[in-house]
Amino acid sequence: MKLSPKPGFTKPSGPVALIIMDGVGQAPDTAWNAVTQSRTPFLDKLMSGEGPDGATALFTELDASGKSVGLPTMGDMGNSEVGHNALGAGRVFDQGAKLVNKAFSSGDFKSDVWKWLMEPLTDGATLHLLGLYSDGNVHAHVNHVFQLIDGAIDDGAKRIRVHVLADGRDVSERSALDYFGPLEKRLEAIRESGVDVRVASGGGRMVCTMDRYEADWGMVERGWAAHCLGDTENIQTFSSSVDAVQGFYKDEKMTDQYFPPFVVVDDNGDAVGPIQDNDSVLFWNFRGDRAIEISTAFEAEEGEFTHFDRKRVPKVRYAGMMQYDGDAGIPKRFLVSSPQIERTVAEYVVKNGMKRFSVSETQKYGHVTYFYNGNRAAKFDENMEKYTCVPSYKQREQTRPWMKAAEISDEIVKDLDEFKPDLMVVNYANGDMVGHTGHMIAARMAMECVDLCLARVIPEIISRGGVVVLTADHGNCDIMAECGKDGNPKPGSQPEGWRAKVSHTKQQVPCVVTGNGIENYELNESARWGDDPDCKAAGIANLGATVLNLLGLEEPSDFLPSILKAKA
Ligand code: 3PG
Ligand code: CO
Repeated sequence: MKLSPKPGFTKPSGPVALIIMDGVGQAPDTAWNAVTQSRTPFLDKLMSGEGPDGATALFTELDASGKSVGLPTMGDMGNSEVGHNALGAGRVFDQGAKLVNKAFSSGDFKSDVWKWLMEPLTDGATLHLLGLYSDGNVHAHVNHVFQLIDGAIDDGAKRIRVHVLADGRDVSERSALDYFGPLEKRLEAIRESGVDVRVASGGGRMVCTMDRYEADWGMVERGWAAHCLGDTENIQTFSSSVDAVQGFYKDEKMTDQYFPPFVVVDDNGDAVGPIQDNDSVLFWNFRGDRAIEISTAFEAEEGEFTHFDRKRVPKVRYAGMMQYDGDAGIPKRFLVSSPQIERTVAEYVVKNGMKRFSVSETQKYGHVTYFYNGNRAAKFDENMEKYTCVPSYKQREQTRPWMKAAEISDEIVKDLDEFKPDLMVVNYANGDMVGHTGHMIAARMAMECVDLCLARVIPEIISRGGVVVLTADHGNCDIMAECGKDGNPKPGSQPEGWRAKVSHTKQQVPCVVTGNGIENYELNESARWGDDPDCKAAGIANLGATVLNLLGLEEPSDFLPSILKAKA
């Protein structure tokens, strides 16, 4: 894996720092753009081509959504998983959303694991399907669920229970009825054909089941109690998922991602679908980060699981749509293979004798390690790498928009002198995590806080001889209002009078390169992320080669071209 020196590029004496402002896109300057509406003097200067202390700053905009990051269509917004994969791989790989679509159209999802799940069903066992129910296409897609139901019925399933997590984070914040309504209708039609299929439980994705990076196992515990135990004593009960949503919406402030858990009951008040011994369970999300913990809860043997008291652990056949953690083998069985990302920037860096440091807070820690490493949690070389995770607050981000940006900055400054990395990969989560709350004022504070931190760490990096590549993985807080066809916000309950937009945007993302020696380089205007007709610019995957070049290394021949070239 040795790389040759890159002609015209010289490794700086300090680190090359890739700083990712999560969820910060380049959208038009409107009253609902938290990036342009916040006071960010440091960032503004960088974007106008002025680096700190007279350093040159090169500025460009990069694609970060759709096919440029391996998603099925240009209409698909980017997300942190595919964004960090692209940044770390320097190439574009087909991602989960696309691979699962392919498995359904070819019929390949009916693998040996599928047959194993179906086996008990002909003896009267129940198939439980569980996951995020929306068309956000970040973690899951409703179309996949119907293909699973149809496929299972074709293969003899007579009793199916569907456990639905409401989204309101990758889609509109109060859109659950648009999803659960048609679902209940469709299941009713299937019931008329003689198959006993019902929604059995659910909850909001940020309250139940979909925790990530062990930020709060309580979420998984609540999900377990609803989906698995059907705990009608401690959890609110309803006659259907639509009934549940209507109940929750009585609180005008309630949004889908924060629904409490619920259990669907029959006329006698009994849960219609607790999970029992011998049943089969399939988790239909394709993205890994928020699927690992619930999968562990299903698969871990008694005595091996310490995160909460599962009370009853049914002996089920469990599988995921994909394998969510390839290193740890979670889950053991899955329907579709994950993208095989090899030879990442991080691996090249380490195997070329350079030190690498990654830092973020809990909510994005796996992004700068696992996702950046091509879906690999383990270090490439224990002695050459340091990963630091600053524990995130557990409170909702609108109440603490500064999150742990200051503490992340402390770690950066500390390890500039202590660990002395050659490559530093940093993620400031604020723009994304606060953007997902829909609170404009908080999102502006989030941006101002990121600016304050950048104004502190970037000069420190440059004063140690370093170089900075500042970018984002996708947009989010650059559009905080849902807009109609006329381009203006739809009316809604936000203090500004509009309806919040909580999901990512499809906007391009900013990219600034500044620091020592940058005056010797210029933007490579011909760099592109592919030869697709939709490809009109470079994308964040082009930053793989850029980072290697800045470290003085020639990029591997299959990497996308760098956005920089040496001046003639
Ligand atoms: C989430 O999981 O919080 C959202 O679905 C996507 O956000 P991320 O891709 O920025 O992590
Ligand atoms: Co996000």
